[in-house]
Amino acid sequence: MTEQYLGIPVPVLSESNIPITKPDLLNMPRSNQYIWTATQRDLISHLVGLNPVLAEAGMRATEPSPNVAADLTVICHEMAGRLRKSPAQIAQELAEGFNSDPNPPTIQEAIAQKGYLNFLLNMHIFGNQAISEVETYQDHYGEQNIGEGETVVIDCSSPNVAKYMSIGHLRSTIIGESLARINRAIGYKVIRDNHLGDWGTQFGMLARAHELWADDYEELSEGTDPVKGLYKLYVRIHEEVEKEKIAERERSGLDANEDVETALEREGRRWFQRLESGDERAIELLKWATQKSLAEFQRVYDVLGSRYEYMLGESFYIPMIPRVLEYMRERNIASIDETGAIVVDLSMKNLDKLVVQKTDGTSLYSTRDLATLVARCAWFNPHRIIYVVGEDQQRYFRQIFATFDMMTGNTGPQTEHVHFGMIRLPEGKMSTRAGRVIFLEDLLTEAVDRARQKIDDLSRDLSREEKETIARQVGVGAVVFFDLGQGRERSIKFDWDSALSFTGRSAPYIQYAYARMRALLQRAQKEQMELRYDLPIEVTNQPGNALIKHLSKFPEAITRAAQTSRPDILAEYIFRAADLFTTLYDRVRIVNEPDSVRRNSLLRLTQASAQVVKNGLDLLCIEAPERM
Ligand code: ARG
Repeated sequence: MTEQYLGIPVPVLSESNIPITKPDLLNMPRSNQYIWTATQRDLISHLVGLNPVLAEAGMRATEPSPNVAADLTVICHEMAGRLRKSPAQIAQELAEGFNSDPNPPTIQEAIAQKGYLNFLLNMHIFGNQAISEVETYQDHYGEQNIGEGETVVIDCSSPNVAKYMSIGHLRSTIIGESLARINRAIGYKVIRDNHLGDWGTQFGMLARAHELWADDYEELSEGTDPVKGLYKLYVRIHEEVEKEKIAERERSGLDANEDVETALEREGRRWFQRLESGDERAIELLKWATQKSLAEFQRVYDVLGSRYEYMLGESFYIPMIPRVLEYMRERNIASIDETGAIVVDLSMKNLDKLVVQKTDGTSLYSTRDLATLVARCAWFNPHRIIYVVGEDQQRYFRQIFATFDMMTGNTGPQTEHVHFGMIRLPEGKMSTRAGRVIFLEDLLTEAVDRARQKIDDLSRDLSREEKETIARQVGVGAVVFFDLGQGRERSIKFDWDSALSFTGRSAPYIQYAYARMRALLQRAQKEQMELRYDLPIEVTNQPGNALIKHLSKFPEAITRAAQTSRPDILAEYIFRAADLFTTLYDRVRIVNEPDSVRRNSLLRLTQASAQVVKNGLDLLCIEAPERM
């Protein structure tokens, strides 16, 4: 039985590709069961109990600005009109009402400050619950079931066959993997689909180049470096085309900005037509190129720890194209223009037009993306599809989504282009070795080399193997955090010093703080300080309490990161956790604290911090070294 969507049949997926990320919903707490969100929710319902009109006035509890000494704030200005009272008066009355009957028990008291109603947590009760929560859920602390098992498809990495992976694909790989983990953590079933670029005119060009010059490159023979050979073919044919263009323009007296089609391009186009009509030789070459390229990509994926439920290249959707075009033609979504191409008119959305079939009858990137959308809807019935692709394709995705909305009559899944800016790499040996090509593996290798040097200086008592593992964790982590920590929309310049810094916002800083927490706990264990879970949490210092509160906000940080597709929110959160712990560690005795209840509390706080940092790093695809 073939599956279909919009009446368009889709190819059958093989059994081996069944998604592996089905979350175990039963064991996950509801989003509002964690103490921090529960406190906010219960506070609001208690206040509404005091005055039901507040609900209609849209009362919310928010985090106060950092200079206010409070844990939660209700801003009364927004409710003033509705209640016909001044904000200060509302705050005053509510504070009195609350203090005469404080509830929930995690809140100690309310303080009215002009139009602001501030609340202080009861750190005995709140602290105990917050720490126990981390201890109960451990590796699952922070997980929720907001997604209720619905499916999110993440289109990410998606490099092009017969070329090297670019720094843009690296970003897509890292951001995509992190978003996959974050969405899974809040209860979505996640399908990572690597939409390999393995089809299109460029492969016609490649086939032509192969036909002409394959013998010139020994890399192309088995057992050497086929991807390099393919890349050389690609570079050569483009250089030849450029030369031909210049000659052609001179011959026909055209301006430099005028486009001319050269003989080589025509030949490439013809090869692509052969490819689309199933020419065996062309397909054989492409299959071979894909296999070789995948082996290269896989090495990068292994280093980064990213995995895919599916790696379905553009070529997979070719059989669907006639029906997709027919569907659009029948409904007048697409029409033939004066050149004979098939186009979608999007001018009413200010998106000009989208070409979906070329004059010569071949498909385009866009056609294959539309077919892919149809197939994904049929296979996965997704709630949301996220495309992690560079910002240069913003307009393109607007066009694709607008066209798809027309096809489905707005009944399709949510679609979202999670775009990101460019990373410029540092000058030096990496960028010069291959002209404009950047060898990603070189970037990662250099990161590990540099980390190894630092580790050598830092920790002399570790074995060679341990150092090697740590160098890999720190080096790769540094690159990943540099990417995720910056906010994906910014264009950034990669810089070794800040990526590998042990003092700033960086993976090594966080990893070092984590290793310190582990070392501290080990020391306590050696000194026979068994952790006691029956004793209360009593942390009487400011850095400790700040850390407890921060740990309780981890689930909320995950939710925000998921809903905005912004791993940097989580990166900042984890950095703060590491930083608050470092402050605590610098200012307060922990193992040497004489009072046993307090010492026990601080050790459990350390353990909970380590757990949160580890869970958070995992969502960012960064490993947490036990020692450093
Ligand atoms: N292969 C494309 C490129 O390198 C990215 C593909 C992104 N995904 C998609 N469904 N269009 O630019």
